[in-house]
This record gives sequence, C-alpha cells and structure tokens, in this order.
Amino acid sequence: MYSEKVMDHFKNPRNVGEIDNASGVGTVGNAKCGDIMRIFLDIDEDGIIQDVKFKTFGCGAAVATSSMATELVKGKTIQEALQVTNKAVMEALDGLPPVKVHCSLLAEEAIHAALWDYAQKNGIQIEGLEQPKNDISEEEEEEDY
Ligand code: FES
Repeated sequence: MYSEKVMDHFKNPRNVGEIDNASGVGTVGNAKCGDIMRIFLDIDEDGIIQDVKFKTFGCGAAVATSSMATELVKGKTIQEALQVTNKAVMEALDGLPPVKVHCSLLAEEAIHAALWDYAQKNGIQIEGLEQPKNDISEEEEEEDY
C-alpha cells in the first residue's frame, strides 16, 4: 500500500532533530488526528535555507512526508521553499494512499509556520506567505514532546 520511497523515508527519516538558535521554528497540529509537527529552519543572510530539521509526534506517513519535505527545501531560497507543497512532496514519494493525504499537510504547514516565525523575528514580509491556520507555536512554545 505504501511506495518504496515512502517506506524508505519512514524507516530512515532524514533530518530528524532540532536546531539550536534556529532562524525560524514552526509547530503545527493536524486537526483530523491531533498529531503534531515541529520544523526548525536555519536561514542565512542571503535567505537560503542552510539546514532544516524536524520532530514529530505523528504517524508513519507524516514522518515520511516530513523527511522528504526537509530534503526538498534544504539549500533552497525562501520563495523556492514555498513551492514545496504537500502535493510536490507526495509526488516525490510516488504517492500516498488517499486516507493518508492529510498527513502530508503537516510538513507543508510546519515549514510555512517556521518561515512565518522567521519573518516575524526579522520584521520582514514574505510574499505569498500566510500564517498557517493550524499554527500552534504560541501555545506549545515551551512544551517538549
Ligand atoms: Fe496523524 Fe498521519 S494520522 S499525521
């Protein structure tokens, strides 16, 4: 039921962890299942994403999609990272079963939330970026999971 790529990223997820003093951190919750995703971005002065890590309290599909999403945004500009939609991530993984499509939204939304956090910290506006509606960064800031 899962593609080989999904199984590979689920078994060997890339970029798991945290970044100290990250440029932006985003935490989002999935309204359907209650799972949580946190993304850390390290963005340099040229607006290039130098590093990205994720931590999740989510299912296997969430792990695989976040792993792929972090691979796709690493080394990219902010604008390029905004193009990494859940659809692009699913395509890169050769698809997901329909019941798992909502899981892939966690990574996209967490990246957007981390970019939103970065923009707030630096007093800038990122064209085309809106605050993700499932952003729970405010409440969860100090919570560890
Ligand atoms: Fe919650 Fe997949 S079931 S993220």
